Amino acid sequence: MKELQNRILQDGIAVNSDILKVDSFINHQVDPALMLRIGQEFADHFKDRGITKVATIESSGIAPALMTAQCMGIPLIILKKQPSRILNDNLYQTEVTSFTKGTSYELTLSSSFVDESDHVLIIDDFLANGEAATGAIRLLRKAHATVAGIGILIEKSFQPGHEKLVEQGFDVYALARIRRMDTGVIEFLS
Ligand code: G4P
Repeated sequence: MKELQNRILQDGIAVNSDILKVDSFINHQVDPALMLRIGQEFADHFKDRGITKVATIESSGIAPALMTAQCMGIPLIILKKQPSRILNDNLYQTEVTSFTKGTSYELTLSSSFVDESDHVLIIDDFLANGEAATGAIRLLRKAHATVAGIGILIEKSFQPGHEKLVEQGFDVYALARIRRMDTGVIEFLS
């Protein structure tokens, strides 16, 4: 998506060869008009696939995922990061380790909102090693749902996430695919 690529070039900051700061328009201050157009782009790309729900992992995926859900006319499921304090039969949980942030969390989904009839589109802001997306897939499978596609705003294509997901047969649609970056340099795949 040319608009997102241009915005990354204009307002994104490549801190080093690994980390891109996008906190002025995606994950701290949010540009709602851009998020709406991103939602439209995902809705167009994934139309006619029988998708019943959009899912994202809190928190930075929520804005684009909500716009996608709105454009598709279906609900948004927010996969929660906080662990359940009480044992609850109605929760699915799986542990996710983020190599980027060096943290682990317990991803949680209530069984009330997703079941075997659901075809779910996962939306997230970044794809790096693919740990978050893989955790979301594990969780949705626990709920017996089908993962119908994965939409990503920014893919760091020099990390293995995309390949891992495509090898498992998932349709991964990333709007901006970064081939290489370094302090002050950002290069896209196309
Ligand atoms: P992983 O495979 O190593 O776990 O990386 P993943 O893409 O799952 O991302 C882990 C977390 O790090 C995500 O945030 C993601 O948004 C963030 N992240 C990854 N690469 C970058 C980057 O280059 N720049 C920025 N700004 N963030 C990056 P999260 O833990 O889910 O938190 P939240 O921001 O959604 O609350």
